[in-house]
Amino acid sequence: MSYIIDGKKISQDIKDEVKDEVSKLKAKGVEPCLAVVLVGDDPASHVYVRNKIKACDYTGIKSVSINLPADTEESELLQKVEELNADEKVHGILVQLPLPPQIDEDKVINTIDPDKDVDGFSPISVGRLSIGLPGFKSCTPAGIIELIKRSGVSIDGKNCVIVGRSNIVGKPMAMLLLRENGTVTVCHSHTKNLREITSQADILVAAVGKPKYFKAEDIKEGAVVIDVGMDRDENGKLCGDVDFTSVSEKAGYITPVPGGVGPMTIAMLMKNCVEAAERL
Ligand code: GUN
Repeated sequence: MSYIIDGKKISQDIKDEVKDEVSKLKAKGVEPCLAVVLVGDDPASHVYVRNKIKACDYTGIKSVSINLPADTEESELLQKVEELNADEKVHGILVQLPLPPQIDEDKVINTIDPDKDVDGFSPISVGRLSIGLPGFKSCTPAGIIELIKRSGVSIDGKNCVIVGRSNIVGKPMAMLLLRENGTVTVCHSHTKNLREITSQADILVAAVGKPKYFKAEDIKEGAVVIDVGMDRDENGKLCGDVDFTSVSEKAGYITPVPGGVGPMTIAMLMKNCVEAAERL
């Protein structure tokens, strides 16, 4: 039976650490502030944004909500982002994705000042991360590093396998594991002999978006298994990319879904906001 990595507890610890940092900054006269821009009526985005604002309230970070209608033109949104870039009281800017089809997401992300890019999505942030310069790290992969380290596992020299190559998870995950001196393999939909590769991983990060895709036979005995999936099983119940029941018998460490990687994203966003306020 493996050790279950408690993402809820670890994310709470991080939010409490952020809360302390915020108090210290406020004592120095700096009030960390995050601007959250939401365009349109996507119900899932509304829930995400509400949770981000709740985390700001908890940690003491000021949040400014900007809600724009679904038919907002690209130029209007770009102008709003420019205004927030110029606003000295705003330390972090988050534009919730996805955006309505008339707006080019890349253009918007590119317009956010990299020093306020608390999501870590801008090409500048990604470039800084790739060459080891200080900058914002994409929140989900940064949260995964915290989950591994705070569970007492060293990444140094480990065989790390990531399945999934998205810009938000897979690619930055590879860079962060590399920074920790892991030996990194990135697998994707064209990878041959995928299960042979995953079964040799000391640390496996599963981000494929397929319910219970990895079974016990795909995993090395004692491995650290990080499940980024947010899928639905045959009964419509929330589950991950990993078949928790069978894999938890064989893995050394495993993250559950829910309560594993999920809560870390917002906690790391809060951490990035404090970092932004400290830097500016
Ligand atoms: N949409 C889904 N996840 C995210 C996220 O982490 N940041 C932003 N900006 N949009 C998202």
